[in-house]
Amino acid sequence: MIVLAIANQKGGVGKTTTAINLSAALAMRGRSVLLVDLDPQANSSMTFLDVRSLQKSMYDVFTGQAALADIIQPSPVPRLDVAPARIGLAKLEGQLVGELDAHYRLKDRLSAIKDRYEFVIIDTPPALGLITVNALVAATHLLIPVQSSYFALEGTDDLLETVDRIRARPNPDLKLLGAVITLHDKRTTLSRDVHKAVTEVFGGRVFETTISKSIRLEESPAHRESIFTFAPQSSGAYEYYKLCEEVIERV
Ligand SMILES: Nc1ncnc2c1ncn2[C@@H]1O[C@H](COP(=O)(O)OP(=O)(O)OP(=O)(O)O)[C@@H](O)[C@H]1O
Ligand SMILES: [Mg+2]
Repeated sequence: MIVLAIANQKGGVGKTTTAINLSAALAMRGRSVLLVDLDPQANSSMTFLDVRSLQKSMYDVFTGQAALADIIQPSPVPRLDVAPARIGLAKLEGQLVGELDAHYRLKDRLSAIKDRYEFVIIDTPPALGLITVNALVAATHLLIPVQSSYFALEGTDDLLETVDRIRARPNPDLKLLGAVITLHDKRTTLSRDVHKAVTEVFGGRVFETTISKSIRLEESPAHRESIFTFAPQSSGAYEYYKLCEEVIERV
């Protein structure tokens, strides 16, 4: 089972958009996929589920009040299931502090559904706290979305340092699958500069596919659809399809 964490503690860089559309793309390519939403804003969950009708969420899984299998919901996309988040996740970190297995909760819960899915995609919150650390401990691979902006690489040192610490002890096998440039506007020189700077930091780990800025991508979650059904002819659909191909090649 490939467990792919999508993480970057910078806010608004396209983690959720990538989680939603990569999950949908993998499912459309015939893979069985579980999308685990660890962002208290629950935007990934809302895209595929009516979250108001849900009784339990990842919060209950972390605190031991529910098994992971009990909260998993089928999405309208064939082969794609979702383990939803709810706003309550925001208070989770305070509750886990001091628990001996605080960093291992997600890994332990995922082991109960081992091999039920080919891919588990984890959307994480914009912070390097316990929730993101749980994702990195449970993950086999990490994908980092990097926003094409002047401050694109700000904070990358902290993220990579956290990855190194997690590799040193709890999860030596964690692999950096790659960095994907998002919200790209190829008409600007800034974008070209950012591309160069990101390549200097990540080298060959930068995905060839970059995700352009696109109104369609921004609109699709509000319509509760992935880009592939909302605007199948759009650049966003093409680019996330290409990114999915690269992910399949690299894992
Ligand atoms: N390629 C894109 N083109 C246009 N808008 C985009 C694109 N990718 C993401 N967005 C929009 O940018 C905003 C931030 O994206 P998203 O929610 O995916 O980022 P995030 O990293 O998950 O944010 P957070 O850190 O708050 O969880 C959203 O409004 C989203 O719709
Ligand atoms: Mg998000």
